[in-house]
Amino acid sequence: MSSVNILRVGDSAWAAVTQSSAFVFGLEAAGEDSRVVQWYWGPRLPDEALAEVVRQAPRRIHSGFHDPRDVDELLPVEGGARWGVPSLQVTYEGGVRSVELTFAEAVVADSEIELVLRDPLGLRVGLHVRVASEVVERWVSLTNEGEHAVRLGRVDSGSWVIPERAGYRYTGVAGAWAQETQLHRAELAVGETTFTSRTGTTSHRANPWIMIDAGDATEELGEVWSVALAWSGSWRLTAQRRPEGDVAVTAGFGHDGPTWHLAPGESLLTPPVLGLRTCGGYGAASRAWHDYARHHVLPTPFEERPVLYNSWEATWFDVHEEGQIELARRAADLGVELFVVDDGWFGGRVDDRRGLGDWWPNPDRFPRGLSKLFDTVRELGMRAGLWVEPEMVNPDSDLYREHPDWVLHYPGRRRDTLRHQLVLNYGRADVREWAIGWLSGLVSEYGLDYFKWDMNRSFTQAGWPDAGERADLLWIEHTRGVYAVLDTLRERHPGLRIESCSGGGGRVDFGILRRTDEVWTSDNTDARDRQAIQEGYSYLYPACAMSAWVTDSPNPHTRREVPLAYRFHVAMAGALGIGGDLTRWSAEELEQARSLVAAYKAVRPVIQHGRLHRLAGDPGITASAVQYSHEDRVVVLAYNPFALAKRPPRRVRLAGLDPSALYESAEGERWHGQTLMSHGLELPTWFITGPDYRSEMVVLRRVSG
Ligand code: DGJ
Repeated sequence: MSSVNILRVGDSAWAAVTQSSAFVFGLEAAGEDSRVVQWYWGPRLPDEALAEVVRQAPRRIHSGFHDPRDVDELLPVEGGARWGVPSLQVTYEGGVRSVELTFAEAVVADSEIELVLRDPLGLRVGLHVRVASEVVERWVSLTNEGEHAVRLGRVDSGSWVIPERAGYRYTGVAGAWAQETQLHRAELAVGETTFTSRTGTTSHRANPWIMIDAGDATEELGEVWSVALAWSGSWRLTAQRRPEGDVAVTAGFGHDGPTWHLAPGESLLTPPVLGLRTCGGYGAASRAWHDYARHHVLPTPFEERPVLYNSWEATWFDVHEEGQIELARRAADLGVELFVVDDGWFGGRVDDRRGLGDWWPNPDRFPRGLSKLFDTVRELGMRAGLWVEPEMVNPDSDLYREHPDWVLHYPGRRRDTLRHQLVLNYGRADVREWAIGWLSGLVSEYGLDYFKWDMNRSFTQAGWPDAGERADLLWIEHTRGVYAVLDTLRERHPGLRIESCSGGGGRVDFGILRRTDEVWTSDNTDARDRQAIQEGYSYLYPACAMSAWVTDSPNPHTRREVPLAYRFHVAMAGALGIGGDLTRWSAEELEQARSLVAAYKAVRPVIQHGRLHRLAGDPGITASAVQYSHEDRVVVLAYNPFALAKRPPRRVRLAGLDPSALYESAEGERWHGQTLMSHGLELPTWFITGPDYRSEMVVLRRVSG
């Protein structure tokens, strides 16, 4: 087999090949109604067999109502004989709404191809395909080569055909604030299933990905097709299951409603839509996504994430120099490596009604600026981090008084505040320059190592009066503006690390992960609730980027009481942090926390960089366990929330081990990998009766094989 990723497999067909899969596509019809279709998306075939999947005769039926081909295309347009979900909708001068494309050329590089099509009305459409590990990345470029402006309704990054199977089931996540990434799995209904965000961010309600299987996949077995969009603004993903049987998924930025203006000579580039076909169930799909994130997305994938402390749930808005220093001393004593001051340190920000936009230390709370605090943090051996919310402004702020025109608004309409704040328009160059100025200034002045970048409200009244016909582009340009500011900050300060947060998990996606190191998955820090949130997160995104804190018990949000070890073991499944009020933890709790932090550090590379197996159970509901393997070590985190209410299983079967190798526990017990995978490991937490919320961490080392 060839090592080149894009292969020509016929006169006008190409294959994007990964190690285990092939995605074959090409021109079904040339000439005035050129159709670029997907021929195949399945297991890798020998190179010489790839041409066999290219259909000889175009798929047609003689009907005045129906043409089966409009789900086959890489970018079904609105135009000609097509009635499916359009991935591209354009209105030309005079109200013409039929895109009619003619194939022009294919531009091929080693692992990338662009198929160029043209509409004689002046639109150039580039369909791009690139291979990145097991993932096929696709995106679209549009250029208005005509003499008149065009208006774009939908510009998806691409549509994917899910191969014919006896049934179709989808897996995805949906949720709400404090209840993000809840797993949903159901038969894909005939019709159109749409997940979307209209908030201007990725959103808490849904996350831009879907997995589809034939209804027979399990955690460890079965073929799974996944599609994900790498974008952090509004989006739409539609899976259509035709009554005739075909299934296709189209995804792209923007939501229904706004339309985009493209003047003569202007271009638009979509974010990548990612396709991944795997065998080995949902688990293998997730592991392939994690590999992709490590090798093609995250800026610092192989760096160990520090154990951080965040002050939010300890002090809320009551942030003062002495209080933070006290927390810093206690955090350092536990082994914390990064101290992050959350909301409440700046301007007049003593509650959520004022101050956003005034990014200088509150003079009453920090009379000496932040130097004293961060100098102390460094003396204590920790790195320094700060919470910021750069896209927002409170009307009660100097910034808003000076620049009321910087926010999203329509003249003469209300400016509805949410959490007492308005959204700054990052489509504007002056807003971006302002943000880079003060953010970069803070990093330089205080030698900051870390920003927690928050975003706490959805868009409303999203107007951009100065932009005229281009105003709706702010749905794209705002996100791009945020990306640009993050990219500039990283360029200027290569040591700076950034956490993405949006009122919890409102901005978790492959777009933001390209320029951030961690994401905050939820404001809900209740360990039991968090387990389900973390499970949904783990379907696509890797543990190293999942910021997770141990907070107080009873939990401030749910009032649930959960023992410290359980809270730790849940947070240890990602990048461990502590977010409780350490001044109220007892000496025993501090002692236990110290040893759990040390235990985490000892296995940190295994958890953060290892291969994840979701071993068993319904996290947070029944006995459950997750496993991480890295080099010669295996870590199992096991949980049992309700010991007495259920009859849990006794053993957990491990996965992905070397069957003939020997694995040894800390106590010196040894098992063959095959035994651990076939018979399982006995977990006292699961089968010995005891109180609720028991958990354990088992560490095994491969000692032979
Ligand atoms: C929302 C975040 O998710 C919280 O962790 C905290 O930073 C608050 N914002 C602060 O306002």
